[in-house]
Amino acid sequence: MEAPSRTKGQVWCRNEEEEANLLTQFDNDTLTKVGPGTLMGDLMREYWLPAILSTELPQPDCDPVRLRLLCEDLIAFRDTNGDLGLIDNYCPHRRASLFFGRNEECGLRCVYHGWKFSRLIHGEKGALSRIKMLE
Ligand code: FES
Repeated sequence: MEAPSRTKGQVWCRNEEEEANLLTQFDNDTLTKVGPGTLMGDLMREYWLPAILSTELPQPDCDPVRLRLLCEDLIAFRDTNGDLGLIDNYCPHRRASLFFGRNEECGLRCVYHGWKFSRLIHGEKGALSRIKMLE
């Protein structure tokens, strides 16, 4: 039996045929990187993704929940009307974590300077209306 040899990609291969069947670094990155702006990340964002159980946000204005989905740190919350919201963990003002925000009066208020984030845009449901709740 031939001893494995180390290749450029730091992968152990027994022979050239096995080495030829390996994915290139580019192919591997294309298939496995799912952050915003990546090929696979953009594709995955076209589909519904299970994120958390609705029981984790049991009642209106309950504590928000942290989650990580497709390499993004997010905060899920249930507003005063019982509707779900999902926003970036980091406040766009000074990047404070909205996990520590106050969930009040139909929105999540950043505790640092008080900016408030609603699931409504100009009184209408925006992109967040795409959140589906499965019981
Ligand atoms: S950091 Fe959130 S309002 Fe300033």
